[in-house]
Amino acid sequence: MSEDRREDLRPKRLCAIEGDGIGREVIPAALAVLASTGLPFEVERAEAGWDCFLERGTALPAQTLELARQCDAILFGAVSSPSHKVVGYSSPIVELRRQLDLYANLRPSHSWPIATSRPGIDLLIVRENTEGLYVRRERSDGHTAVAERVITRQGSERVARVACQWAMRRRRRLTIVHKANVLPETCGLFRQAALDVAAEHPGLEVEEMLVDTMALRLVTTPERFDVIVTTNLFGDILSDEAAGLVGGLGVAPSANVGAHALFEPVHGSAPDIAGRGVANPVAAILAVAMLLDHLGQGALGDRVRAAVGQVLADGPHTPDLGGSATTEQVTVAVRSRIDAVR
Ligand code: NAI
Ligand code: MG
Repeated sequence: MSEDRREDLRPKRLCAIEGDGIGREVIPAALAVLASTGLPFEVERAEAGWDCFLERGTALPAQTLELARQCDAILFGAVSSPSHKVVGYSSPIVELRRQLDLYANLRPSHSWPIATSRPGIDLLIVRENTEGLYVRRERSDGHTAVAERVITRQGSERVARVACQWAMRRRRRLTIVHKANVLPETCGLFRQAALDVAAEHPGLEVEEMLVDTMALRLVTTPERFDVIVTTNLFGDILSDEAAGLVGGLGVAPSANVGAHALFEPVHGSAPDIAGRGVANPVAAILAVAMLLDHLGQGALGDRVRAAVGQVLADGPHTPDLGGSATTEQVTVAVRSRIDAVR
């Protein structure tokens, strides 16, 4: 047996960070589905988030960061972040993306067999994940507030490279989204870097689009898009919009890739429904499917997605999809579909 083969058989180590609110409900559900696949995992739990900050004085303990670095993949729920400045607090997910150099955020949206999903959509938004307006360089004298937006050629090229690789594996269409007419320096640099990288991919159909036009087209003709690459804030906003086309945040997963790999639902901690056991676990379960793809277990990832598709078609559904089922009931239904094909 070769060294590589032996490496493959080692159980993967997974760092699970539930976080706050419904993160504590959907991550156990997603881990239960992962267990149903039969793939051996060592799950290591770690803390982060607002409650962690209140208890321990830090939103991202050093042990959590260290464990995240050591594991083969990270599964993250959601954290609550206050909308006002709190001394000593900064969002642990933004910090994890930066510390682990998770520079590309992959946010797929595709149609599901539910009333709130439009048909014919299969797109992937690749969002730059470490720079742009998320570098936390803000200042204010109380009258004028300024935020700095950092775009680098290297940061733009590497996210564009990830987007091109995905496009080449998919329908070979890339849309580069920017606002270079108003922001010729920052967006201009991103645009040029992305165009340069795209030009290295023969057979790739490339177009560019201003972000406001993109927001409109995403609503009017979402079927025409394959892979969309854009800067941090634009990607954040457009991907929530894209999620809204196919059933909402309850079914929207994401992957953060780079030096490490972190998988999470797109949604936040949803304090309005937290603690009631009615959060839709599908987004977190689909994040697990992306995790399986990433670990070279694409067939298992497909099996999880197929099981989710059947449950979405037949029910039960959580309240966000018009049903009255609990997180637990949906999870049990997905698990039984996976068991059925094993
Ligand atoms: P949110 O995503 O938590 O909730 C928005 C709406 O969608 C709410 O009505 C919520 O009930 C619903 N929703 C979200 N996920 C759902 C699910 N799985 N099942 C059923 N309904 C679901 O966004 P919001 O309300 O803007 O932010 C709440 C908190 O979450 C804030 O503190 C924010 O900072 C944080 N947040 C954290 C993120 C992360 O950790 N990656 C991402 C987005 C927000
Ligand atoms: Mg967001």
